Amino acid sequence: EKGGYDHFMLKEIFEQPKTIYDCLRGRLNAEKGSINISGIEDYLDEISNAPRIIIIACGTSWHAGLIAEYIIEETCRIPVEVEYASEFRYRNPIVHKGDMIVAISQSGETADTIVAIEKAKEQGAIIMGIVNVVGSSISRISQTGAYTHAGPEIGVASTKAFTGQLAALMMIAFKIAHHRKTITEERFFHLCEELSFVPEKVERILQMNDEIKAVAETLKDASDTLFLGRGYNFPIALEGALKLKEISYIHAEGYPAAEMKHGPIALVDENLPVIFVATKDVYHEKIISNMQEIKARKGKVIAIINEGDTITPKIADAVIAIPETDEIIAPILNVIPLQLLSYHIGIARGCNVDMPRNLAKSVTVE
Ligand code: M6R
Repeated sequence: EKGGYDHFMLKEIFEQPKTIYDCLRGRLNAEKGSINISGIEDYLDEISNAPRIIIIACGTSWHAGLIAEYIIEETCRIPVEVEYASEFRYRNPIVHKGDMIVAISQSGETADTIVAIEKAKEQGAIIMGIVNVVGSSISRISQTGAYTHAGPEIGVASTKAFTGQLAALMMIAFKIAHHRKTITEERFFHLCEELSFVPEKVERILQMNDEIKAVAETLKDASDTLFLGRGYNFPIALEGALKLKEISYIHAEGYPAAEMKHGPIALVDENLPVIFVATKDVYHEKIISNMQEIKARKGKVIAIINEGDTITPKIADAVIAIPETDEIIAPILNVIPLQLLSYHIGIARGCNVDMPRNLAKSVTVE
């Protein structure tokens, strides 16, 4: 049932070219430059005219929500907030009729997320579910939405479910942006095309497994780690840190790279590995200077970069160079090496990567 892999986590990481393809299939037509998601077509005007979008989720799904916030605000120009379900449900939040609530959940059974969206629905919001498990509670509460089509995820760590969420959210954002005319035809066409190349690029990253395993070997004895990224890659830094802590029990923190000066930099010494998500985007020069600041304090720098980057390898102790894509789409690729890194570090430390201690696959109690 593990299809020849040692663990479900590894199997699910390696399934991603296919699961992302399955999510895009029948929805994205890159040749024509069109996106059609049956679950949202009927609500296209409501979504496009929503005064506000509130995204509600927990854990890794919340990280997908943060990325969606950046993408939707950039492309659709609709204000977005992202909330932890557990906070939203108890804090008497302001919800107006017509607000669009996006619930993101692999299982569709996360207790806090269910209650949060039920409350918002009572207040007149429209609920859109981005869910993996077909027929789950959240999918039933939602009026509109899209399944991620990642197939059953057994490993407690969310891997293929996360990239499925990103693929679905990206398609929805680009579709709405196109509908609202907040991006040009050319930009829309380009984004559709880049999205269609993702499965093949993920495949190429997976072929770097041995190289990533060798980097993992150098990190396995760390007691603390810091993950840094900016812009679309800030949530990827958070996700890299969450993955590492749940799989290897190494203390990991994720931060927006520029925030390190406001506290975390005090932790930096020769014993602290800092993992940068530093692929090419508008922040590239800035993140390189953040890297130099870590090196100046003797920190060890590991960087996820793009192929062809000749500057970062001169600064970092180790780099993992992956294929380039549009900066908006990059998070879906950039998370893959971090998933593999956590997996190999967890295995090297003798951890039960499929079932980490104290965790449950779906958190059905608050
Ligand atoms: O099923 P959900 O997506 O609602 O689950 C949310 C979180 O419990 C989940 O993402 C959790 O953080 C994962 N273990 C992370 O790998």
